[in-house]
Amino acid sequence: MTGTRVLEPEWLDALPHADPRAMRSRRDLVRVNWLMGNVRVVASELSRLGPLRSIAEIGAGDGSFMRAVLGKLDAKDVEVHLVDQQPLGTVTADVFDWLAEAPILDAIVANLFLHHFDDGELRRMLALVSRRARAFIACEPRRSPFALASAHLLGFVGCNDVTRHDAVVSVRAGFAGRELSGLWPEPVGWTLDERARGLFSHSFVARRDE
Ligand SMILES: C[S@@+](CC[C@H](N)C(=O)[O-])C[C@H]1O[C@@H](n2cnc3c(N)ncnc32)[C@H](O)[C@@H]1O
Repeated sequence: MTGTRVLEPEWLDALPHADPRAMRSRRDLVRVNWLMGNVRVVASELSRLGPLRSIAEIGAGDGSFMRAVLGKLDAKDVEVHLVDQQPLGTVTADVFDWLAEAPILDAIVANLFLHHFDDGELRRMLALVSRRARAFIACEPRRSPFALASAHLLGFVGCNDVTRHDAVVSVRAGFAGRELSGLWPEPVGWTLDERARGLFSHSFVARRDE
């Protein structure tokens, strides 16, 4: 690896939201996010945007990730939309349907979410995002040999079969280089920043120029 992205179905997406293995895997994700350092990455990028009135996380799961991010910020009175296809957050909807009708927001966040989609779907999603937010922050698995080897070891920190399967699939579908910048629809009028974060993550930030 690095090679090209390989997409395979993730088990968590197919399990009913109240299935005990799914619930356990969502709890594992809190630990995985901690190991990856993603809460810190997204909180620090959000804090650079100035006072926030409205944010959304797409593919938010049960909202644990965004709660942890907000806990690191001085973000009182911020309107938060937690969008997921499963009935877990504040909005139950497919991401494309929701983005087509979404209000204009200060920021949209995606964590461990974009890698579910192929490049054509991502182009369409990012085009919708660019019309709905003045900033977009994504933190995704990094597609690297080290991240792949580490994903194989998640059993040692107590992650269940669903999390272990999905972690490996996620790294293979993850990102490297400037792949997400290449899918952003509007390089003019936006500042793009895409890079490796920590040992396992890959961030992409798009900020609308003032
Ligand atoms: C790996 S989880 C990440 C959850 C959360 N962002 C976190 O970091 O803990 C991916 C989430 O994306 C959701 N999802 C997958 N496809 C979706 C879609 N088309 N529209 C909305 N949500 C989707 C799944 O239901 C799942 O909760």
